[in-house]
Amino acid sequence: MKFANITVKNNLFLAPMAGICDVAFRVLCKKYGAGFVYSEFINVEGISREIPNSMKMLKTAEEEKPVGIQIFGTKLDSIAKSCRILQDKVNLIDLNLGCPVHKVTCTGAGAALLEKPEKLGEIVRTMVANSSVPITVKMRRADRENSEEGYAQTIKIAKIIQESGASALTLHGRTVPQGYSGKADWSYIRAVKEALDIPVFGNGDIRTRQDYLDIINQTNCDAVLVGRAAMTNPGIFMEILEGTSPDKFEMFFEYAKLAEKFEIISAQKLKVMAQHFTKGIEGAARIREAMNTVHTVDGIMDIMEKAKDGRFVVTSENNMNKNNITMITKSSTSSVEKEIVCSYT
Ligand SMILES: Cc1cc2nc3c(=O)[nH]c(=O)nc-3n(C[C@H](O)[C@H](O)[C@H](O)COP(=O)(O)O)c2cc1C
Repeated sequence: MKFANITVKNNLFLAPMAGICDVAFRVLCKKYGAGFVYSEFINVEGISREIPNSMKMLKTAEEEKPVGIQIFGTKLDSIAKSCRILQDKVNLIDLNLGCPVHKVTCTGAGAALLEKPEKLGEIVRTMVANSSVPITVKMRRADRENSEEGYAQTIKIAKIIQESGASALTLHGRTVPQGYSGKADWSYIRAVKEALDIPVFGNGDIRTRQDYLDIINQTNCDAVLVGRAAMTNPGIFMEILEGTSPDKFEMFFEYAKLAEKFEIISAQKLKVMAQHFTKGIEGAARIREAMNTVHTVDGIMDIMEKAKDGRFVVTSENNMNKNNITMITKSSTSSVEKEIVCSYT
């Protein structure tokens, strides 16, 4: 499949997820079948001022390419500068138009832009003018509740995005007030697909091969983005496309190795990943409980090794050889971004 100037091996993509889609996670998803991968969202104020934490979040790897970086923000000069910085590093730049978190919307960014069509158009045009790589946008439905006007409101925003020069649009079929409750309404994706000429990607509630086939059949969308199902199983792409998926523990150890290789490893991040990857497996509650007692990379690896081998006992770090313990490394996420990550879901 090809969209804009990008050729991808299939149309099943990894959705952007704050606190999850770092370079190590994206490489893992790519290895297990994702046709394209998006980063977690990154503040244009951090990129344009080249703040070290934001620059760290921009890390990409050859083996994940083509890759898209998602940005959020409203200041045109910061957006323009960010795009000029990013164009040499990535294959695509995506604008976040769906984040419902107050910390983001109170600055006028994320989902707040759905209510400011003129500003939105200006932002997309600025991105296009300052980037040699394609610009895409990911949005939620533009209406706030189910009503007759909902389709027209969403299509109006989608058309502004297209007319401003975006190369593709992703639609998550939920309203902003909905958060993650209820079901994503794919009929909005179909309506937008029918109204636009640029490729439209569908998103929301894809967990199985049947969901993937259904969303394409029902909406005619050009590609499908998977979020939460990938967060707990980066092998979901392989599972959907080929019917099998690797062992969750093996994928966790692969993630840890990649995080070390890309120098983004931290106890905090490993803990989050361990808890996501073990969600739903037997003994997950005990693993979670044990995770609460450790604060180091080695402590987390020890618990996961034991859980994998079925010889799991809750150990406190006090019982471990202190020389072998890697102390917590500082998170690559700034405190404001951390707060956003915590509340994104
Ligand atoms: C932990 C988490 C973080 C997210 N962060 C982002 C983000 O940074 N940018 C974005 O556009 N959407 C973000 N989302 C929304 C997802 O990209 C996706 O639209 C949503 O989860 C619906 O897809 P799903 O049903 O496959 O999960 C996030 C979702 C989750 C669960």
